[in-house]
Amino acid sequence: MKPSDPYAVTDKLDDTLLQVIVTRLETRGKHPLFDGMLRDYLGAMEIDMAKSVLDLGCGTGVAARAIARRPRFAGRVLGIDLSEALARAASKLAEDEGLGDRTEFRAGDSRKLELADGSFDALVAHTLLSHVDDPILVLKEAARLVRPGGMIGVFDGDYASMTFGHADPAKGQAYDNAVVSGVVTSPRVMRQMPRLVEAAELQLVATFPYILAEVGKADFWAPAIESFRRLLPKAGVMTDEEANAWAEGLQNDSANGVFFGASNYYGYVIRRP
Ligand SMILES: C[S@@+](CC[C@H](N)C(=O)[O-])C[C@H]1O[C@@H](n2cnc3c(N)ncnc32)[C@H](O)[C@@H]1O
Repeated sequence: MKPSDPYAVTDKLDDTLLQVIVTRLETRGKHPLFDGMLRDYLGAMEIDMAKSVLDLGCGTGVAARAIARRPRFAGRVLGIDLSEALARAASKLAEDEGLGDRTEFRAGDSRKLELADGSFDALVAHTLLSHVDDPILVLKEAARLVRPGGMIGVFDGDYASMTFGHADPAKGQAYDNAVVSGVVTSPRVMRQMPRLVEAAELQLVATFPYILAEVGKADFWAPAIESFRRLLPKAGVMTDEEANAWAEGLQNDSANGVFFGASNYYGYVIRRP
């Protein structure tokens, strides 16, 4: 069976798995390292100057809310997600935070949107591209939707580099392969970005490279592993028993101070000429 990345089919998931994703995205969004990476590229985009921002693949609205709550931001953010349920969850979270008047969330497919050319000053795609099998379509759509001179922020994991330690290195390699193929569609897309930017006739302005590595104890990676435990069987790359054994092994490693988990991440700041 071909692995199917659950994040690529969120419009078809049941409520239980959607709740796993809601919890994962909100927990990840609150982590200081993850929040810091988002702030870095938003700052470089001069997002506070934008009056209209589009958040593609918004999920629960982590990036949209981070933009809307910035003290100097006076614009509006539209979030679009493949999943109507996630767009609804994003609306509720924004309302609860008092950001309802600056945000709007809708369902839609980022590869083809019925929005007018050049209708946004800025656009972000925060960990969307690794979940689509044709990222150039999303980038071309982003190029169409921002105005000339508008800014695009693309951030994602270089998930081909995601790796976890294991007592048996060969088993660890096999687990890494299964995890990456199970939770991501385009694990090498951040390495393709310079070419994709050129193909979409955009200009690269700045890049932000990071390594999110934890050695000894898992902090950022602990809730990620818990979400993978639930998503990997759905993707068809592990049975429930295998996923439980894998996750428990890593949580034990963390409790015993011998955990290793890492992935590279990249932020790209891009301009439409
Ligand atoms: C890893 S989540 C990131 C969510 C959010 N940007 C964040 O960082 O918390 C990827 C999101 O992309 C959405 N998605 C996947 N394919 C999509 C598509 N073709 N169009 C719009 N959204 C899509 C999924 O529903 C999911 O919410």
